[in-house]
Amino acid sequence: MVMNKVVSGGAEREVSTAPQAASVPGSTARMTPARGMAAPVRVAGERVREGHGPVSLLERLGERLSFERMSARMYEALATKLERCGTFESGPRREDLMAIREEEVGHIGILRHAIEKLGGDPRELGRAARVVRVANSGVFQVIVNPRTSLAQGLEAMLMVERADCDGWHMLIEMARAVGEHRMSDSFYLASTEEERHVELLRRWVTHHALQDVIAGAEVLDAA
Ligand SMILES: [Fe+2]
Repeated sequence: MVMNKVVSGGAEREVSTAPQAASVPGSTARMTPARGMAAPVRVAGERVREGHGPVSLLERLGERLSFERMSARMYEALATKLERCGTFESGPRREDLMAIREEEVGHIGILRHAIEKLGGDPRELGRAARVVRVANSGVFQVIVNPRTSLAQGLEAMLMVERADCDGWHMLIEMARAVGEHRMSDSFYLASTEEERHVELLRRWVTHHALQDVIAGAEVLDAA
């Protein structure tokens, strides 16, 4: 990537001279067409290089978007599994799972809006988004496999939600770092919902594990 130094408003900054760069009408920002998240997307006064600033924020937003889309599908699959297998004592009800799914869908909306604000296209998958999709595909297979139990599916989902929480916390920090404070606030709201998802899943998984260990102890006592 060729970078030239320019002076604007007394401040020196670097801009890409990539042929796809184009001015945005009514804005001092420069943006590429939406495709290709790896290329610089906007230069708005900050020092922006490939892998830095709004460019890498876009990549991470795409990653999170891919994650949330898969999470919504995983909760749908968990609800289907629950319908088929039933639940356990103090376990989730179908409406609990679908309520979480609705919040994941809300997070998809937040991310789509943020990506569009930075000049990206939420329909396109960046490299990080593709990696996340591959990484989470194993968990999805555990959930949809008819030979696994609801508890095993919930345990796999707990792993995903823990990673999701970390991802949102990172986005909050990244948005703040590039001056997108309103965006960062919306990410904070999503992260509090994700923390509640972790707490609910941890509670259900723990209840099931305790029931398992108590049942095992009763079998040993009866022997
Ligand atoms: Fe979640």
